[in-house]
Amino acid sequence: MNKTFSDQQLSSIILWLEKWDIPVKYSYITKQWSKARSKIEKSRTIEWQSFSDALLLKNSIEIYLQELWGPKELAIFDFGCGTWETVKETLLKLWKMWIKVKYHAFDISQNIINLCKNNISNINNCEFNYSIIDFEISNLVDILYNIRSKYKNIPVLWLLLWNTVGNFNSMERILTNILEAFRIWDRLCIGIERSDINNKRRFDNMINIYQSKAVFNIASATIKELNFDLKNGRYYVNFNERLSSIEWFFIIEKDFSIKINNKTINFKVWEKIRIVQSKKIDESWFSKLFLDLDMRIANIRTNESNSYLQALISSKKY
Ligand SMILES: C[S@@+](CC[C@H](N)C(=O)[O-])C[C@H]1O[C@@H](n2cnc3c(N)ncnc32)[C@H](O)[C@@H]1O
Repeated sequence: MNKTFSDQQLSSIILWLEKWDIPVKYSYITKQWSKARSKIEKSRTIEWQSFSDALLLKNSIEIYLQELWGPKELAIFDFGCGTWETVKETLLKLWKMWIKVKYHAFDISQNIINLCKNNISNINNCEFNYSIIDFEISNLVDILYNIRSKYKNIPVLWLLLWNTVGNFNSMERILTNILEAFRIWDRLCIGIERSDINNKRRFDNMINIYQSKAVFNIASATIKELNFDLKNGRYYVNFNERLSSIEWFFIIEKDFSIKINNKTINFKVWEKIRIVQSKKIDESWFSKLFLDLDMRIANIRTNESNSYLQALISSKKY
């Protein structure tokens, strides 16, 4: 068995596999995903302007700084940090403004944190800290509260960018935990791609992308690392209306078994495993979420083509 996953992660994967479901977070830990990610990153470096999340963040940082009356220091908690391309221009801008930044990366993947660290270390005036963490753990709020306490009187901008929020099984719980750890000048910036699922042309385009070989390579990353032989089945993409999610399934066409941590798991013909799920969100979902949770919208923006949405949020507590 490949040692990409820790024993604890493998035990959790066994439990999920018994429900025929593998959360997307495990694919991010695999080497296959890091490789695919580096390719995306290269194209983003050249054309970062077209990546709306980076541009919107760079603009909304100004709105946030205005609220803070020109701070000298700022902490950034980047949740699901990725490799840094989204925050790059914003960090450089803060550096030019002489604002001292304490950047704290949070991610489930050690590989991703390493890549991020290498990139950030090139920026002067930017302290780097990190936490390898699964946001879906039960004591998230305590962990966040403790980390937040270390930054004492510095305002924190919390980031959840480039659809990271669509990865979670319970976004509401994770967002509530973040808001619980908030202090008065903190803000949360959430960036999502607007998924216009009612527009047939856009919807078909989206499905076509997910059916491509490139996406399958990423979607199948976890089962590959678990030593599934992909010849034992095929995959298909489905849109689950109830969950508003794109789902990838692997359908077994030949009986086989795999061994994880000394446990044998058998797969039979026609069983299907959900290998990735990605929630598709639009502003009506956002509005409902803000109503349900303790959130106040400080600012909401879309990019020029209206395909990307970013919201700056504070807690109603303050
Ligand atoms: C869609 S990528 C976004 C990356 C980055 N924010 C950007 O703008 O490029 C999602 C990131 O969240 C991380 N992630 C996903 N699920 C997670 C979880 N449950 N706990 C911690 N990190 C997670 C992944 O490893 C990945 O780096």
